[in-house]
Amino acid sequence: MIIFKEAGSITRHLQEQQSGGVPVGFVPTMGALHAGHLSLVTTVKNDGGLSVCSIFVNPTQFNNATDFARYPITVAADIQLLENAGCDVLFLPDVAQIYPDGTILSSPYHLGYLETVLEGKYRPGHFQGVCQVVHRLLDIIQPNRLYLGSKDYQQCMVIRKLVELKQLAVEVIACPTLRETDGLAMSSRNMRLDASARQKATAIYATLMYIRQQVQPGPLDLLLQTAGHQLAAQGFEVDYVAIADARSLQLYTHWDGNTPLVALIAATIGGIRLIDNMVL
Ligand code: PAJ
Repeated sequence: MIIFKEAGSITRHLQEQQSGGVPVGFVPTMGALHAGHLSLVTTVKNDGGLSVCSIFVNPTQFNNATDFARYPITVAADIQLLENAGCDVLFLPDVAQIYPDGTILSSPYHLGYLETVLEGKYRPGHFQGVCQVVHRLLDIIQPNRLYLGSKDYQQCMVIRKLVELKQLAVEVIACPTLRETDGLAMSSRNMRLDASARQKATAIYATLMYIRQQVQPGPLDLLLQTAGHQLAAQGFEVDYVAIADARSLQLYTHWDGNTPLVALIAATIGGIRLIDNMVL
């Protein structure tokens, strides 16, 4: 694996590779890597691309300073994991490489409705920061394909919107969520859960499964309420339990029985905020 720290150097290197006809598949991350991240690298390789991963804990997407300060950093272990996964190129920039002109966003991304609900509502400014960093990373890497995890369902939609707004020539590929054997979605934040919170955290997956089993055409209010209570009973502070149109993220309190649905949850346990979703 070749490691680059400078934007100019990695751009030049990848341009040379692409001129030889090798498609570049890009996996942006914030590090503290787990098998979910690595599965994205494996998918790039299975698709026959040169695999490029980035690790950058992007300050502009944290709406909570404590969350940023406590974000786990495990670079040495990450490098080893990427080597083992057969990653070809790693981009490991510092803030100055990503934001040479400072972190202030010159003009906002017009994300519309997507930014007003769920993560957009509970984490103001978060998706602007995600677009800012992904836009910059795409500019540096210029990949043919961008591989994202469906674990961050709304983020996938936001990044598709970014690609459309800026007419970027990249194909966005959403990959399945990897879970622990008890169902908990893998996440860098899981390593901050203490033993008790870790055990209770499985309730998120159990609740998503419950919604999937119970959902029926007609009103959804009671189902959503019961699901919320299940989480609260385990000690979660629930930001939302929602059922939405899987394509537009329009929130539903009533289902016509035909529209494809996704259930989404954000809830905090032991001071750690977790998110997960399931297409129903
Ligand atoms: P991060 O949380 O590190 O996630 C990097 C990528 O891994 C994202 O596309 C995310 O959806 C995916 N991922 C996380 N957990 C996963 C799991 N359990 N199974 C499969 N894929 C998983 O998401 C970000 O970083 C940042 O917002 C980023 C896009 C890098 C911009 O800073």
